Amino acid sequence: MSVQTDELILDVRYMKKYFPIKKGFLQKNVGYVKAVDDVEFHIRPGETFGLVGESGCGKTTLGRCILRAIEPSAGSILFRDRHGQMLDVLALDSKGLRAIRRDMQLIFQDPYSSLNPRMTVLNIIAEPLVCNGLAHGAALRERVSELMEMVGLNSRHLERYPHAFSGGQRQRIGIARALATNPRFIVCDEAVSALDVSVQAQIINLLQDLQEKLDLSYLFISHDLGVIQHISNRVGVMYVGKMVETASTQDLFASPKHPYTEALLSAKPVPDPRKKSNRIILPGEVANPANPPTGCYFHPRCPYAKDICKIQSPELKQVGDGHYAACHFAGELPLRGAVGI
Ligand SMILES: Nc1ncnc2c1ncn2[C@@H]1O[C@H](COP(=O)(O)OP(=O)(O)OP(=O)(O)O)[C@@H](O)[C@H]1O
Ligand code: SF4
Ligand SMILES: [Mg+2]
Repeated sequence: MSVQTDELILDVRYMKKYFPIKKGFLQKNVGYVKAVDDVEFHIRPGETFGLVGESGCGKTTLGRCILRAIEPSAGSILFRDRHGQMLDVLALDSKGLRAIRRDMQLIFQDPYSSLNPRMTVLNIIAEPLVCNGLAHGAALRERVSELMEMVGLNSRHLERYPHAFSGGQRQRIGIARALATNPRFIVCDEAVSALDVSVQAQIINLLQDLQEKLDLSYLFISHDLGVIQHISNRVGVMYVGKMVETASTQDLFASPKHPYTEALLSAKPVPDPRKKSNRIILPGEVANPANPPTGCYFHPRCPYAKDICKIQSPELKQVGDGHYAACHFAGELPLRGAVGI
């Protein structure tokens, strides 16, 4: 991709994460789950990059590799630290990693299981501050109160336990905790998926307000196209470990260039009931990342597949301004965008 690195906060190149498959008494390695396979994308400061794709396509694995919660098998991750320096995240030693973890945080899907039920909200939000030696005593309590108010919680409830809060409030606690170290980049992994629709909207508004106020950049992972369209500046579509298309939100939804994106968009609920949905039902199942098809992984299901698709894997190529698609015929196919955008 032809982008100047000096405009970026995150630059991911050729990232792979292969999980070994072990079998038998001797735990012999019999293959790999190619969860993330040669993925490339970047994020600009203050931007939300939406990552979408069916369950199991590698979204969480990609997010966890960027944060180095798990080690990628190959590739490079460049991240701009708070001093403006572009760091090679995979080359950092444990001290460097600890420093950069202040800048990169994660908001989980499930506010119920990600908060320790035996810890007070004070201790939950304070933990990253204590671990990083950033505050203690009265200053710590003050900072936690400030964070609670920042996410719309009453700071008088510091001593309460997670069970005393609603689902939306618990997600706010998770957000306050993620913000504690003043990060600049946050991976939101299905951050609103477990919430009711009305609560989802409140949390999305909160994330957008915080982004503006604190100059945050987000990698926003979701399988919900409506949420992705609403919150993202740019979008990446994954299919079986590969990034098959990236574009601005407007271009991707109006004019997709990959047949898988077209099918995904056709399944998006139509906001205006007078407009007809043109849902494309794909044949077969999503490919198995432990044993993907030859050539283009999408070829067994693609309505536009030709002979070359069975043999040759398509590269991500530029098809418009900031628009990339991994299809041999990208830009040549008459693909439909989402209805009612
Ligand atoms: N620790 C692991 N060991 C082996 N395979 C794994 C591991 N973690 C994930 N996988 C596999 O990697 C692939 C990608 O999983 P991942 O959780 O990243 O998908 P996802 O897109 O986040 O899915 P979902 O939308 O369901 O959250 C899946 O086939 C999954 O089974
Ligand atoms: S490369 Fe071929 S099979 Fe793959 S998406 Fe394009 S047309 Fe379909
Ligand atoms: Mg996931």
